[in-house]
Amino acid sequence: MAPTTTATQDLSVTPPPSYLDRLQDFVSENRRAILVCTAAAAVALGAAAYYASTTSPHRPGSGKDRQKDKRRDKSSSKKKKSVGDQDGPILEEIKPEEEQQNVPLTLEEIAAMSVDDRIKRAGCLKSRGNAQYQARRFTQAAELYTQAIQVSPKPEPIFHSNRAACYLNMSPPQFELVVEDCDAALRHDPNYIKALNRRANALEALSRYAEALRDFTAATILDKFQNEAAAQSVERVLKKLATEKAQTIAATRDPRLPSQTFISAYFAAFRKRAQPTPPETSSQGDQTLLLALDALEAADYAHALSLVNEAVDQGVSWDIGRAEALNLRGTFKFLTSDIKGAKADLEESLALNPSLTQSLVKLASVHMEEGNHAQAMECFEQAIKVDSSDPDVYYHRGQVHFITNDYSAAAENYTKSTSLDSTFVFSHIQLAVAQYKMGNVSNSMATFRRTMTAFPNRAEVCNYYGELLLDQQRFDDAVEKFDRAIELDKAKSPPNPLPLVNKALAMFQWHKDIDRAEVLCREALAIDSSCEPAVATLAQLALQKGEMETAIEWFEKQVDLARGEAELVAALTYLEASKAQLQFVKTYPQMAVQLQQIASAMM
Ligand SMILES: *[C@@H]1O[C@H](CO)[C@@H](O)[C@H](O)[C@H]1NC(C)=O
Ligand SMILES: *[C@@H]1O[C@H](CO)[C@@H](O)[C@H](O)[C@H]1NC(C)=O
Repeated sequence: MAPTTTATQDLSVTPPPSYLDRLQDFVSENRRAILVCTAAAAVALGAAAYYASTTSPHRPGSGKDRQKDKRRDKSSSKKKKSVGDQDGPILEEIKPEEEQQNVPLTLEEIAAMSVDDRIKRAGCLKSRGNAQYQARRFTQAAELYTQAIQVSPKPEPIFHSNRAACYLNMSPPQFELVVEDCDAALRHDPNYIKALNRRANALEALSRYAEALRDFTAATILDKFQNEAAAQSVERVLKKLATEKAQTIAATRDPRLPSQTFISAYFAAFRKRAQPTPPETSSQGDQTLLLALDALEAADYAHALSLVNEAVDQGVSWDIGRAEALNLRGTFKFLTSDIKGAKADLEESLALNPSLTQSLVKLASVHMEEGNHAQAMECFEQAIKVDSSDPDVYYHRGQVHFITNDYSAAAENYTKSTSLDSTFVFSHIQLAVAQYKMGNVSNSMATFRRTMTAFPNRAEVCNYYGELLLDQQRFDDAVEKFDRAIELDKAKSPPNPLPLVNKALAMFQWHKDIDRAEVLCREALAIDSSCEPAVATLAQLALQKGEMETAIEWFEKQVDLARGEAELVAALTYLEASKAQLQFVKTYPQMAVQLQQIASAMM
């Protein structure tokens, strides 16, 4: 079994990075089954095969030889282009020559004609429009289609769609007019795939991404995933939409702390240290700082945050204390994704107390977050110069190696950390995970067994051991470990919700037991209402059940909880893809059943 995927940079701050890995794996494995549209490019073959075996006598894969609706589908060969619906790449317009005068009929003249004559005349105008289009005289072609529309006794979607093609090819293109014409065409024929694609292109050009996604999604599904370009368009527009929304959200929302689970995982990655001693005559700020550190000790993070801010404002009277205060305030800034603010506080903390290795280690995380690996490494070197026997430094250097996939350097550094202090459970756990990532599975399992013996009461060991067992599809053993972790944590307040989420994943992967998985995730949420992995898992489970509205609600919550832009983009991608799909099902109820069939065929 291949090791799990690479962790994201965020994980430099969390101990055992594997749970996010697992969730990402879960998501990527299920992405195909669930997000039919998002994954359309990747699964086109699967979907086509499904359709080939049920509905179509033709071989899948080559859209060209499909004999679809003749009216619409004559675009693939250049020779056929003189009739039918215009398509193809954007062509350079040839400006009008005054050779062929078109004198439009007046309304009175049209009214005087018989229906048959009007149909004939409209057909003739369309043919002339097609010819002009072929000659790249788009303005003239559009004019002829306009006349065809006026003279035709009934609405003809193809006239509008062809005129839209002209507007799309004009220089400069007339995107608003393209949208208007496609609106008209689709009003009369909602299944008109070409008009959908055309309108989607125009909407994308107008930066109206949500509507473009709606149209590309519909076109892709209606076309039964046979159109590679449309499927790629779905992915492209989805990315633009999610990125744009993520930037807006990141720029406008109030900074706030991540979940209790996340914060306690962060602080657990540092060994406990003695509290600093204030001078005999301590100031009010000194006292507030001590209260902040007490709150931190009690895992009351919101309180610790407001107290440390207060302490810094009131003024901490001695340098060592002030360095601690800035270290803590900088940490909270880091956790609220205020990377610049965190950097300033940590640097100031180090200026006051250059031997505060923890500030150096945290500054390394800040550099990693900014993508500056070399500077992060320098911080560790600096910290080792200050105190070569600080086990935290090696542990966190190991973490940085881990997230950059240098597992053997990571393993060495975890081992070094353990040799300096063997009581810190995460160095052992991470060593085992690094060994696993290097492909040394039996070694990794042995490390886990040893660690379980050495730390019989630590739920974390069982939890992460279970994750690696789950990765090997050893479901029985994995669930046993998760159960043990849940049992060990029961007395704690609050317990760690992650083993519950992991067990939910196991229940889903093992028995496809979605109901049980949901119950477990809800238990996790009862412990920590903003536990991100529980929310993300519930969203995916709802999609599996085809409960689109529920999935969307969970995705919205996931967006709300997401830290940093990468997480936001990921959550928004699912949210927007689901919304587009829901909209499709509502617009094309007759397709809903087929869509369900595609999804289950891919599961
Ligand atoms: C830890 O990582 C560093 C590179 O950052 C490497 O030079 C060193 O050998 C590793 N092992 C130990 C025990 O420090
Ligand atoms: C696994 O690790 C052990 C001890 O660290 C080592 O002797 C062995 O060669 C490794 N095996 C593989 C396949 O890397």
